[in-house]
Amino acid sequence: METFASRRRVWGLFCRPFLLNGSRMKAVLDYLKRNRRQAIKDLCDYVRFPSVSAQPQHRKDLTACAQWLARYCRNLGLDARLCPTKGHPIVVATTRTNGRSSRPHFLVYGHYDVQPPEPLDLWHSPPFEPRIAGGRLFARGASDNKGQHLAHLKAVEAYLKTRTELPCDLTFVIEGEEEVGSASLAPFLRQHRRELGCQAVVVSDTGMPDKSHPALTYALRGLAALEITVHGPSRDLHSGVFGGSVENPAMALARMLAQTRDDQGRITIPGFYQDVQPLRAAERRQFQRLPFQAAAYRKLLGVPALFGEAGFSPLEQRSARPTLEINGLTSGYQGEGSKTIVPAWARAKLTFRLVPHQDPNKVMRQICRHLRKICPPSVRLELEVGHHAKPYLVPPSGPYARAALCSLQQAFQREPVLLREGGSIPIVNEFRAILGVDTLLLGLGLPDDNMHSPNEKFDLECFDRGQLMSAHLWPELARAA
Ligand code: BES
Ligand code: ZN
Repeated sequence: METFASRRRVWGLFCRPFLLNGSRMKAVLDYLKRNRRQAIKDLCDYVRFPSVSAQPQHRKDLTACAQWLARYCRNLGLDARLCPTKGHPIVVATTRTNGRSSRPHFLVYGHYDVQPPEPLDLWHSPPFEPRIAGGRLFARGASDNKGQHLAHLKAVEAYLKTRTELPCDLTFVIEGEEEVGSASLAPFLRQHRRELGCQAVVVSDTGMPDKSHPALTYALRGLAALEITVHGPSRDLHSGVFGGSVENPAMALARMLAQTRDDQGRITIPGFYQDVQPLRAAERRQFQRLPFQAAAYRKLLGVPALFGEAGFSPLEQRSARPTLEINGLTSGYQGEGSKTIVPAWARAKLTFRLVPHQDPNKVMRQICRHLRKICPPSVRLELEVGHHAKPYLVPPSGPYARAALCSLQQAFQREPVLLREGGSIPIVNEFRAILGVDTLLLGLGLPDDNMHSPNEKFDLECFDRGQLMSAHLWPELARAA
């Protein structure tokens, strides 16, 4: 099998920039340069919508955001529509104004929904009032994912506004439920399979190690979510009067959670590692080549020491090994001062990150069985299974991957790296299953973008270079088709 090292050399040799026609590409690139301020202004307008898909009170904000996006797409000359779903609308915008053509067709996927901004008091400026400082734009959704897919729209705008013929057809599919599991998108893909038939999907919703290492991501972790509630007495009880004679549900839950992972960072649920493949030596070498400084990383995250599964480096732990995280833990009195009670219940929200070959349904059965087995008879256990996403891995070989690497090289003027990443994008497996195509993950995010954290930001240099990358990508992909 070809090693990653040899593959790097192979694509290096083949990366001869393809300039449609030099002067046309120059017109496109000049347009992007001239319209930089407007692009930033548009991104500011886009991030002002509090399109938080997890919170029902924002339903109208999601629709307003989708409408804004569709209008923007129409203004730049795309045929755009809002497709209603059981959840939030999907924006579809295409260059195919007169039906199908014989040109190759690529999909660009992104999401206009964002994570909840809480805790609000940790933001240095309000999450939905964009602030620019030090060449970065701060706002919820700036990096994940509005800025990243807007970069592609800006590149297409440059083609259309300079009347430069695109060498392929493009259809943007921008959904509003990615952060809550993309439930409406798979049915939508099935329903519009013919219209969405394409050569490949392009997604910028991942990251790169730093600005001098643009990246093509070829693997993502999967996910399985579970909410555990432990019920004790029928109401909160006086802990002095009754404490000691009934089980404390918070304690019972804590003891159960403690039996899911050991102090070496290994998950102790029977069968959990059954389908996990060992990391190949070539992949481990690739990880070692990535820029990484443990001390700076520790500082970035604000922890006194790093922790992870023994025997793996931090980069391996966070992107190529499975994990179990407690995302939320609640019980009893959380207000000011003290209240002496035995709480009636305790709850934990958990998610697993899964690696290739692990099946979310199987893992979920294993954890539920384990929890039922270790739950003491003095409390009642309630398990609510949440959303799932399968892990993703597509070897970064073949002409489209090479075309993508070339466009990264041209935009960043640096040799790109190949990455496995730890986050999940649930729909990429469905692109393969329903449309039969692979996804090129060309992330523009940086490790310190604070995705899902307070003070999310998008580096405006990544925004600029992302637009350049997209401008170069279409001729490269069309040539490879
Ligand atoms: N953009 C992220 C995924 C991501 C981030 C992948 C960085 C790789 C590197 C995406 O918006 C996301 O957060 N996905 C969720 C999916 C989940 C809610 C099903 C995730 O990974 O938690
Ligand atoms: Zn996200």
